[in-house]
Amino acid sequence: MTGRTNHLPDALYTYMVEHSVRESDVLRRLRAETATLESSNMQIGPEQGQFMALLVELIGAENALEIGTFTGYSTLVVAAALPEHGRLVACDISEEWTSIARRYWEEAGVDHKIDLRLAPASETLDALLAEVGEGHFDFAFIDADKEGYDAYYESALRLVRTGGLIAIDNTLWEGKVVDPSVTDADTQAIRRLNSKLATDDRISLSLLPIGDGLSLARVR
Ligand SMILES: C[S@@+](CC[C@H](N)C(=O)[O-])C[C@H]1O[C@@H](n2cnc3c(N)ncnc32)[C@H](O)[C@@H]1O
Repeated sequence: MTGRTNHLPDALYTYMVEHSVRESDVLRRLRAETATLESSNMQIGPEQGQFMALLVELIGAENALEIGTFTGYSTLVVAAALPEHGRLVACDISEEWTSIARRYWEEAGVDHKIDLRLAPASETLDALLAEVGEGHFDFAFIDADKEGYDAYYESALRLVRTGGLIAIDNTLWEGKVVDPSVTDADTQAIRRLNSKLATDDRISLSLLPIGDGLSLARVR
């Protein structure tokens, strides 16, 4: 199962997908292979992938950053939406999961746009600040370890240009954000970040109920 928009009844979700999602054969097969993994629910749903591709097209992004790659579905949809000279830096720590990703990126013909960095994202983000400097990226997608989210957001605010977009995944966290009986570290990290985003003057904000909650922060 993928991280589909999880609050819609099945019939309505199916209708939405059938009447809007245009998933390529490569993406469909990547989703099918990922579905055989125990952690398959970490993958974004196809409707969210297509929405993110639309955002990338709308803002005319050329340079994208991804924090949390897994088997590469979100990477592939975003990379495909970039122009031919566009580049996407993908951060992850798993050789095993990203080796699946690499096969599909190559098959889809987008591998030349993707620069995969296997290291803790905090290290990669610091290295990027030194390498490419502030304001280099047009679009960033944060979808890795939840306790790291605040630090990734702060780094993204420096790395993404004014007018660029930071998309943060899982901000509704299967409803756990509003369940006071849930107090684990991941849930608390998401709650803290959501509260911070709500009043952060450095961004314009929208929290969308797509997937598991997707917060969009336009850098001011
Ligand atoms: C939710 S999954 C990403 C899903 C992916 N965006 C997709 O749509 O298929 C989270 C990923 O973050 C990676 N991750 C966890 N901790 C990390 C860290 N400290 N630095 C970089 N990546 C990390 C995991 O290996 C995992 O692949």
